[in-house]
Amino acid sequence: MAARRETERESRWPARRLEPWGLPRPPSRPLGPLATTILFCVLLDPALPLTQEQQEVPTMEWVPSLNMKFDRRTMELSWDCKENTTYLECVMIHKEKGEIRKKPKNKDCHCNFSHDSLHGGVTFVVKVNSTQGPIPEKLVYANPGGEGTAAQNFSCFIYNVNFMNCTWAKGRAAPDDVQYFLYIQDFKEKRERECPHYVTDSRTHVGCHLHDLSGLTFRNYFLVNGTSRETAVQFFDTILSLKKIEIYSPPNNVSVHCHPSHCHILWEPPRTRHPSSAWDFNYQLRIQKQNNKEHAGNQLIDVTGKSENKYNFPSPEPRPKHTVTIRASDARGQHWSAWSQPVEFGT
Ligand SMILES: *[C@@H]1O[C@H](CO)[C@@H](O)[C@H](O)[C@H]1NC(C)=O
Ligand SMILES: *[C@@H]1O[C@H](CO)[C@@H](O)[C@H](O)[C@H]1NC(C)=O
Ligand SMILES: *[C@@H]1O[C@H](CO)[C@@H](O)[C@H](O)[C@H]1NC(C)=O
Ligand SMILES: *[C@@H]1O[C@H](CO)[C@@H](O)[C@H](O)[C@H]1NC(C)=O
Ligand SMILES: *[C@@H]1O[C@H](CO)[C@@H](O)[C@H](O)[C@H]1NC(C)=O
Repeated sequence: MAARRETERESRWPARRLEPWGLPRPPSRPLGPLATTILFCVLLDPALPLTQEQQEVPTMEWVPSLNMKFDRRTMELSWDCKENTTYLECVMIHKEKGEIRKKPKNKDCHCNFSHDSLHGGVTFVVKVNSTQGPIPEKLVYANPGGEGTAAQNFSCFIYNVNFMNCTWAKGRAAPDDVQYFLYIQDFKEKRERECPHYVTDSRTHVGCHLHDLSGLTFRNYFLVNGTSRETAVQFFDTILSLKKIEIYSPPNNVSVHCHPSHCHILWEPPRTRHPSSAWDFNYQLRIQKQNNKEHAGNQLIDVTGKSENKYNFPSPEPRPKHTVTIRASDARGQHWSAWSQPVEFGT
């Protein structure tokens, strides 16, 4: 709060505060009594001479308000259009990413920003060129609530192509009665859906299971907000690309064809949610000699997607019984699938 007031005094700009999911609240200290006086002077009698005191603070003059509004769903900043005014630039001041600048088109009185996380709080400024001089005004999109009350360690993954699980933990400073809610918004229809099936830990929602991912886009906005009777709860939000959070299913149809000197291992790539080329996959083959209780005889073989899903395992006859299982990951090798069912070969 202190930091906010400092900013206001520094700039002498009236800042409007916008509560998330709500309408803009009128500024807490709209215009000081002095400014109001001047405003009336200007309106009622522009020729009225200013008093000594008023002349000493020339910057405290009335500034026409842009009445800025921000819509999180569309990420649109809009304001009241004024005559004889050119809007040069909109600036979104983001805690982590710094200043993001957009140019309004022609005479438009809005700017559209790309979707971004807002839980750090963002501030908007519109730069104008007006016959009435600058209209410096800020809009603060805040994340009200106690520090540490927001859900933490939020993550999601997609599995078996059609399912998604998200998990989070109670904020370290969240009151006991906190309840969290997850909303997911796609970037095409901008439809917001609430989690259909929460996972709970002593009545607090700490996860979500989705079995219908239709309507979700490549990238989506995830919001966890919360309520408590004791205090306001901060929200957490993030943007996730579904392709990056997919955990593949194991490779399909693993088969082994043996020849005197080697065995030919074949498999099919896993079914994935997002179209992937063969090169997008990495595989790991685990070949075990059976009755080898200590896993010392295990071989882990890395195979890239360029291999056309086959591997020649050197294994001269007579060969003991082996099993092979295969798992898959994306090219970055970050999330491995489960292992496929073991397939036996040898005798
Ligand atoms: C806008 O500019 C025109 C032409 O310069 C002027 O006649 C008019 O009064 C101006 N309007 C405002 C609101 O300043
Ligand atoms: C959240 O993640 C941090 C860092 O990975 C870890 O230290 C912490 O224990 C986690 N908190 C909970 C509640 O899971
Ligand atoms: C996803 O969440 C559901 C519901 O809690 C659970 O039954 C399922 O085992 C989870 N799946 C994975 C892969 O963790
Ligand atoms: C959480 O966000 C959703 C979606 O914007 C909204 O409908 C809901 O009222 C919010 N809940 C709280 C407690 O802020
Ligand atoms: C596995 O192989 C069978 C027989 O060749 C085929 O019908 C089936 O579609 C394959 N399964 C997958 C998931 O590719």
